[in-house]
Amino acid sequence: MNEKQRLENTQVNPSDKKSAKDYSKYFETVYMPPSLKDAKKRGKEEVKYHSDFKIDEQFRGMGDGRKFYIRTYGCQMNEHDTEVMSGIFMALGFEPTDSVEDANVILLNTCAIRENAENKVFGEIGHLKALKRERPDLLIGVCGCMSQEESVVNKILSKHQHVDMIFGTHNIHRLPYILQEAYLSKAMVVEVWSKEGDVIENLPKVRKGNIKAWVNIMYGCDKFCTYCIVPYTRGKERSRRPEEIIQEVRHLAAQGYQEITLLGQNVNAYGKDFEDIQYGLGDLMDEIRKIDVARIRFTTSHPRDFDDHLIEVLAKGGNLVDHIHLPVQSGSTEILKIMARKYTREQYLELVRKVKEAIPTVSLTTDIIVGYPNETEEQFEETLSLYREVGFDSAYTFIYSPREGTPAAKMQDNVPMEVKKERLQRLNAVVNELSAQKLKEYEGKVVEVLVEGESKNNPDVLAGYTRKSKLVNFKAPKSAIGKLVKVKIIEAKTWSLNGEMIEEVAEVK
Ligand code: SAH
Ligand code: SF4
Ligand code: F3S
Repeated sequence: MNEKQRLENTQVNPSDKKSAKDYSKYFETVYMPPSLKDAKKRGKEEVKYHSDFKIDEQFRGMGDGRKFYIRTYGCQMNEHDTEVMSGIFMALGFEPTDSVEDANVILLNTCAIRENAENKVFGEIGHLKALKRERPDLLIGVCGCMSQEESVVNKILSKHQHVDMIFGTHNIHRLPYILQEAYLSKAMVVEVWSKEGDVIENLPKVRKGNIKAWVNIMYGCDKFCTYCIVPYTRGKERSRRPEEIIQEVRHLAAQGYQEITLLGQNVNAYGKDFEDIQYGLGDLMDEIRKIDVARIRFTTSHPRDFDDHLIEVLAKGGNLVDHIHLPVQSGSTEILKIMARKYTREQYLELVRKVKEAIPTVSLTTDIIVGYPNETEEQFEETLSLYREVGFDSAYTFIYSPREGTPAAKMQDNVPMEVKKERLQRLNAVVNELSAQKLKEYEGKVVEVLVEGESKNNPDVLAGYTRKSKLVNFKAPKSAIGKLVKVKIIEAKTWSLNGEMIEEVAEVK
């Protein structure tokens, strides 16, 4: 169906300021819009585990002769969801394509974390309008975290009628049904679940690359930091069973993957939702370290739940890398309190002390938000001083962005944008200074690099990462790709290291 037909069908006047619910009367098809209010609730119902995912026979062949394209925004969680959706597309008979022009289905897997992330997506939705006009049979879908927001769904409904389907983060396994609806229906298909407590196993996956892999260990977040939209877009915390995770990691190891990253929005809360067993992230890491895979990472850690048992296990080293991403957000106890991070500056520093004592070679990276509502100059300076005190290797730094529906968005804010920007620059100057110092220390040293491929800027050079996630560029034969090699560092650049390969450490299995 083309855009004109849809507009006639739905008779929505784009200038109408209607709520999503008002639109329901126009739709004959699936219409299940999100509700931030429902998404906020955390029920006591048990997490349901579904291990029986399979593609229904009626959908087989749906993709024959058709191609799909997925553009992914946001965090690793979204990247991994894209791998699952790719798996479903392929199981339906679709082929992947790198070009929107070639695609029969285009999905935008979106991120809602900050306003500029959302603006990028709306820009892209706008661009796709011309393509849809040219090829009315093209299906365009919006999924991921933005789909979980009422305001986004309302905006797409009223301003972007060329979108064919909107679905959320909890129902990607429903993709075959949603596609079928979109092919058959005249109206936009909207299926967003605002409350979810389920874990679906056995989803097909087409992983990007064969060197590194992501493995979800838990979904959702119950922390409700006052600025953050994730607990609304990803639902309540629910852990995958350890045996499922261990089996997946073993399987990846057997396939020759060299590095596994365990994923969750707050991995340190892993296992807290189990009622039948006492089992946490430390226990899981202790099992996984025995699996024959070169490197194991996890992200993201919340300082609050980082317990001594986990530190003890990480200190055993082996394939557990000595790099921890430990978002601090602010160095001011007062700001941390308003953020509802539930730790103080001192508690964070104490955790860092314990981690460094147990793992002396550890490298720490972090996330920081500047310009929180009413942040004072002194409070900001506490962030700068904490950054130096910890001696982070690097950081992702952000200007606070109000997210509709979160408590912080309702706060009065007396910090002008100019001041926020200036604070970000000052923080970035410190981040860059320390990163450069840390990189300089590598000159003349030998590091282990997992070779990922050709360098982005120069195909004659190979690139890979150290155990501490430092990017290394070096000349070596292409046969080194996918292997662990030893590289002597010759020169530290601003963001990366240049070196010479000395030897291979291990053969790929
Ligand atoms: N679950 C992870 C982080 C998820 S979001 C954790 O708790 O550490 C990644 C980062 O985005 C956060 O650490 C935070 O620094 C930043 N962020 C989240 N919400 C934001 C907002 N409203 N404005 C600016 N930055 C934000
Ligand atoms: Fe957001 Fe906080 Fe949860 Fe991280 S821990 S996802 S910052 S609410
Ligand atoms: Fe963005 Fe959702 Fe990840 S909001 S950061 S894609 S969990």
